[in-house]
Amino acid sequence: MKVLLVFLFTLVCAKHELYEGWKSFFVKPSNVEQLNALRNMVHKFELDFISHPTVHTAAVVVVKPPHQHGFLTILAEEDIEHWIHVEDVKAQLAFDDQLIEAQHTTKRSIGTEGITYENYQPLEIIYEYLETTAQKYNETVTIVTPANSFEGRPIKYLKVSKDNFRSNKPVIFIDACIHAREWITIPAVTYAIHKLVENVTEPDLLENFDWILLPVVNADGYKYSYDVERLWRKTRSTDQHVLGTICPGVDGNRNYNFSWNSAGSGKNPCSDQFAGSKPFSEIETRVVDGILKEHIHKIALYISMHSFGSMILYPWGHDGTISKEESILHDAGIKMADEIFQSSTLQFPKYKVGNSAILLDYTASGASDDYTHSLGVPLTYTFELPGFDLDGSGFILNPKYIKQVSVDTWAGVVTGAREAGKIFTIT
Ligand SMILES: *[C@@H]1O[C@H](CO)[C@@H](O)[C@H](O)[C@H]1NC(C)=O
Ligand SMILES: *[C@@H]1O[C@H](CO)[C@@H](O)[C@H](O)[C@H]1NC(C)=O
Ligand SMILES: *[C@@H]1O[C@H](CO)[C@@H](O)[C@H](O)[C@H]1NC(C)=O
Ligand SMILES: [Zn+2]
Repeated sequence: MKVLLVFLFTLVCAKHELYEGWKSFFVKPSNVEQLNALRNMVHKFELDFISHPTVHTAAVVVVKPPHQHGFLTILAEEDIEHWIHVEDVKAQLAFDDQLIEAQHTTKRSIGTEGITYENYQPLEIIYEYLETTAQKYNETVTIVTPANSFEGRPIKYLKVSKDNFRSNKPVIFIDACIHAREWITIPAVTYAIHKLVENVTEPDLLENFDWILLPVVNADGYKYSYDVERLWRKTRSTDQHVLGTICPGVDGNRNYNFSWNSAGSGKNPCSDQFAGSKPFSEIETRVVDGILKEHIHKIALYISMHSFGSMILYPWGHDGTISKEESILHDAGIKMADEIFQSSTLQFPKYKVGNSAILLDYTASGASDDYTHSLGVPLTYTFELPGFDLDGSGFILNPKYIKQVSVDTWAGVVTGAREAGKIFTIT
């Protein structure tokens, strides 16, 4: 059925030309040697992992036409279990578009109940929601536009507080969409806004904490992924390398100033893990840094939303060493994962929790969770939200599950905030 639909859409839809002939595969390494063999192919075959490969977990990797033969040859040689994910990436992206279309309702995307969770919203609608919420709830919500993106779009976040951050409450800071294509991360943050001001069922969260919610770190990238190149991940800067106009963009989550460019990143501007010309080369990461510096002594919990993989990851990711906060990081991580699992009515796997380098057998430097931890924030996490390849979708979470994932993620955030409140004292 899925194959047939994909075939039909191939005939009618000429969008996503770039992805002509691309394929994606599930790969499932059964030991560390196979995992390393996979990693060693990334550069040679320009592999794009949509989810993290780990031992015994199937990950999805996208492969361009010229590399498919070589890639499959080595998989066979190394005896790495694999099977097709999407035979025709271009057609699948057109099919994903149809899923999105089918979810469009005649209702406006912003109504009396705030933004809707039936679909992925364009940047303009997300920003309109932030503006409207700040106006409507002006006693508690303040909108801040600290800077414009590389291409000149405003970057906007909300401060949510009973007294405009005047009393010394612990601060919870959540950001999302530093990686452009990780669309599901944005509603996970707007839903937190919704639950803090529009439909308050946990009043202690605003009583006891101040909140900073930054739903779209990488506004340029999101817009570009939304309108042009679906699988875009990086920022859109062109000033980081002499090849910057041919290969624009920096991996924002390799651009933070901690152990920068030492692992899982590099100086090749055409790579999806390009670290930039220097730490904080990107205005988008400088905005996050500015927020951190402004509130650093009060931030009790930082979460950066990513997808996909159903994981809660914590430092140190650059080298896999154990944080001195390991036991509280792990304990709060497990509690969040439990709550998310309790909340979920879907067949998503239970979140795995751990040190990112150890859980993934992969070190990556310059990531925001390591950086915030290095500044002294005790609880800092990267969430990998669940799902894709569900009910026919290929590279997005099927939009009919946006609401559920947002609700489940909020259950985790609630628990994380309360745990942070128990252990955190402002110094
Ligand atoms: C909130 O908006 C109302 C109506 O525009 C205005 O009267 C009030 O002073 C505002 N309150 C704050 C705290 O800005
Ligand atoms: C408010 O949230 C609760 C619990 O999350 C939910 O059961 C209820 O339907 C929501 N109400 C509205 C009006 O959205
Ligand atoms: C990066 O961190 C180092 C060491 O803390 C500091 O000396 C340097 O100024 C920072 N660079 C930027 C761009 O923030
Ligand atoms: Zn990501």
